[in-house]
Amino acid sequence: MKKLFAFFKKNKDTKDNIELDKSKIPEHIAIIMDGNGRWAKERNLPRALGHRAGVEAIRKVVKECNNLGVKYLTLYAFSTENWNRPMQEVESLMKLLVEYLKNEFEELNNNDVVINSIGNISKLPRLCRVELDKAYEKTKNNKGLVLNLALNYGGRSEIVDAVKKISLDLKNKKISEDEITEDLFSKYLYTGEMPDPDLIIRPSGELRLSNFLLWQSAYSELWFSDINWPDFHEEELKSAIADYQKRDRRFGKVK
Ligand code: IPE
Ligand code: IPE
Ligand code: MG
Repeated sequence: MKKLFAFFKKNKDTKDNIELDKSKIPEHIAIIMDGNGRWAKERNLPRALGHRAGVEAIRKVVKECNNLGVKYLTLYAFSTENWNRPMQEVESLMKLLVEYLKNEFEELNNNDVVINSIGNISKLPRLCRVELDKAYEKTKNNKGLVLNLALNYGGRSEIVDAVKKISLDLKNKKISEDEITEDLFSKYLYTGEMPDPDLIIRPSGELRLSNFLLWQSAYSELWFSDINWPDFHEEELKSAIADYQKRDRRFGKVK
């Protein structure tokens, strides 16, 4: 009996106390927050409640990333393809975004978080844009985690938008053709000066990128988990980081 207790205690400790190497914390983590609908379905709840439950996971992950010293956290919240969902679901997601920004703003600001976004924000409902603008403005001088919300984001349209901006600058002679390098091209993407994600996490068991950070993910480490986003928590994040820390990032070179 004593042995059995010790076994459970040991296993619990290893799960709850994941030791991370503080010198190898990824600078940029990006998460495809997926599985809200399935989480709700398993509980016979409407999909909108799954999205609502996902906000709790956002809270936990933002706090933990800030504590761990992660510099950028990009959360895929709404893709360019998600407009094809039923209107009611799209509306509930937009409403949730406004609510999230209103309810969480103070705590995020107190924790020195910078609120930022990537994607074509101009197509979001006015109320979302108003709340986002307020949040950018009030947090822009903060020094902590950059919380980067991917909203109406699509990797392909981001690349097309970058090409359009470059063409315009070429036409207006702001740049010349031989100045166009990979580095310069990166600066024309929504992510601008941000470093590429070191680690991309996708919960819910799907093994794909779904149009997320197509250019920036060239050398990202990928980590998948079967649990749905609303069940994601700090220890799951730490498991992903612990796994990342064991990997050998070669970038095509030999050691
Ligand atoms: C992710 O959860 C949230 C968004 C894409 C906005 P889903 O709504 O895709 O959940 P599943 O994949 O249907 O379970
Ligand atoms: C990706 O999830 C988009 C977001 C998490 C915002 P989806 O649920 O839309 O992706 P697919 O349809 O499974 O590829
Ligand atoms: Mg999904």
